Amino acid sequence: MPVLVVNVDHIATLRQQRMGKEPEPVTAAHLAELAGARGVIVHLREDRRHIQDRDVELISQCLNTRLHLEMAGTEEMREIALRVTPYIVCLVPEKREELTTEGGLAVAGRVDVLREYLAPIHAQGIRSSLFIEADPEQIRAAKAVGSEYIELHTGHFADAPTPEAMKKERDKIIAGVELARTLGLKVNLGHGLNYTNIFEFKNVSGINEYSIGHSIVSRAVMVGFEKAVRQMADIIGTFAE
Ligand code: PXP
Repeated sequence: MPVLVVNVDHIATLRQQRMGKEPEPVTAAHLAELAGARGVIVHLREDRRHIQDRDVELISQCLNTRLHLEMAGTEEMREIALRVTPYIVCLVPEKREELTTEGGLAVAGRVDVLREYLAPIHAQGIRSSLFIEADPEQIRAAKAVGSEYIELHTGHFADAPTPEAMKKERDKIIAGVELARTLGLKVNLGHGLNYTNIFEFKNVSGINEYSIGHSIVSRAVMVGFEKAVRQMADIIGTFAE
């Protein structure tokens, strides 16, 4: 059965808007757990535009479920990951000027570099995931890196301008899930998933986890955070493996 893991970055975005104390990502992390999320995700960006170092530390100390740390593959981030020891580290590409993560990590051609980068992380018992496009070359390269997980980028699917284009993107993702499973990788999906488009994956087997943030925080603004998480957890709870 796939599970929901909630990204609380945009709780921090709202807080950083005023550089104040609220809303508090730690509270959101707890509410997400209470409402059925199986874990909490934070993306500690190099520019610290939303999640701050103290958020990562505090959430890691307070969480009863699993902390997923999304980060760029830099020395600074690796040191933080080794200190905090999240359940899983997900490597993402990062550009300073982007509004959000725009695409998957280039893994093909960088297998040795990434394997070496991840070695101390794996040695400490922290799992790794690579956020990549549903491209067979990238998926095979991810396998060669030795990560246990991949997260397939669903942003192009979510942003597709027509139903036909969306179907095409969905088919690519489903083929990616199948290939990854054949290779023995665990597959997560994330980016741009919301209360409508998530149904497109309802009957797709082999998906381990859905990583969802912006749509839940947006809905929470209207209906309350706990309610929003419960609704998404309930939807995913009806999906077959
Ligand atoms: N997965 C990754 C790798 C991401 O970078 C993001 C956005 O921070 C998400 C999932 C969640 O995307 P969204 O906020 O659109 O649900």
